Amino acid sequence: MHEGDGAQAWVPPHPTVPSLHAAVQDCRGCELYRDATHAVMGDGPSGAALMLLGEQPGDREDGEGRPFVGPAGRLLDEALAASGLAEVPAYRTNVVKHFRHERGAGKRIHKTPSTWHVAACEPWLLGELEAVAPTGVVVLGATAGKAILGPSFRVGAQRGRRLEWPADRFALRRPPVWLVATAHPSAVLRSRQRDEDLAALVADLSVVRELIG
Ligand code: URA
Ligand code: SF4
Repeated sequence: MHEGDGAQAWVPPHPTVPSLHAAVQDCRGCELYRDATHAVMGDGPSGAALMLLGEQPGDREDGEGRPFVGPAGRLLDEALAASGLAEVPAYRTNVVKHFRHERGAGKRIHKTPSTWHVAACEPWLLGELEAVAPTGVVVLGATAGKAILGPSFRVGAQRGRRLEWPADRFALRRPPVWLVATAHPSAVLRSRQRDEDLAALVADLSVVRELIG
């Protein structure tokens, strides 16, 4: 196993959520581990019918080692509550498990992971999809959308409706059935029309609420 070959060599066979958590800290599948504090595996019940898929951990998540514990996570919680999904068990994770960032003015500034980082990290996500076996996946933003649906994915064109899970893109024993794409909560936080964008996020999640039953 060599750094830069992707995560596959570090992913346990027959993964479970606990075995993935234990293994991911050792991953050297790309260079992003070098400048990060923790690898951030997903969080939530193994049998959850719903998976929420973000981009990568942020500054807070990197420090705590858990997904969606910073400002984006708070906004996501707010949107889930407003759409009636707060009580629905959901497994939350990201397509990339280490925080890609740059240093500037004493701060760590988010940098979008490249297509290569997403591909290198994909074995962890496939392990989570095997272990959790959700029925539906919510893709939060363009990085997650491209990771699942391919490079032509656009949030604006595809958000807020039931899409078929692209089963031919991934070898999974129990693939999800559907997915719904929406905006990333960090994009809503940064938006100049935050109220409108939050309402659109809630509307998309309300579609998920209907599908989950
Ligand atoms: N943004 C993400 O995509 N994921 C997190 O866990 C936190 C912020
Ligand atoms: Fe491994 Fe993913 Fe971290 Fe790269 S980002 S070192 S592939 S866990």
